[in-house]
Amino acid sequence: MTQTAAALSTDAKSAIVEVLNQSVAETAVTTMLAQNFHWNVTGMAFGPLHELFQKIYEDHFEAQDDLAERIKAIGGHAEGTLAGMLDRSKVGEHSGTASDREMIKMMLDAQETLAATLAGAGEISAGHGDTLTEDLCIARGQTHEKFAWFLRSHLA
Ligand SMILES: [Fe+2]
Repeated sequence: MTQTAAALSTDAKSAIVEVLNQSVAETAVTTMLAQNFHWNVTGMAFGPLHELFQKIYEDHFEAQDDLAERIKAIGGHAEGTLAGMLDRSKVGEHSGTASDREMIKMMLDAQETLAATLAGAGEISAGHGDTLTEDLCIARGQTHEKFAWFLRSHLA
C-alpha cells in the first residue's frame, strides 16, 4: 500500500533513511571527483571534458541537496560530514594525476555505482510503499545512466 512519509513505520523510515544517506554520500563524493577532473583534465579534448565534468558536478550538487532534504521530509538525520560520507561511499576519491581516458573511466564507474545504488534505494522505498522517495530515486538513477552513456561513448 502506498504510504506518505507520516504514515511510514519507524523501521521503514530507518531503512529508507539508510539508503538515502548512502545515495547522498556517493553523490557528494562524485561531485568532488567531477570537480577534481574538471580542474585537472588535460589533452586534445580538454574543452568538452572540462565542460562535461562541470555539468556532472553541478547536477550532483543539486541532487545531494534533494536527496538529503527527502531524508528530512521523512524525519531522518542527514549525514552532513565529509568523513562520514567517505566512510559510507562505494565511490572513492582520486588523488594525484590521471590521463583523460583514466578520468573518463573512473567517472563512468562512479556513475554506474550511483545508478545501482539509486535503483536499490528505489526498490527498498517501493518495498515500504514509499512511492514518493521511489520516484526521486528513479529519476536520479536515470540521470546517472545518462551520464554513464555520455562517458562510455568517449571510450568506444
Ligand atoms: Fe570551472
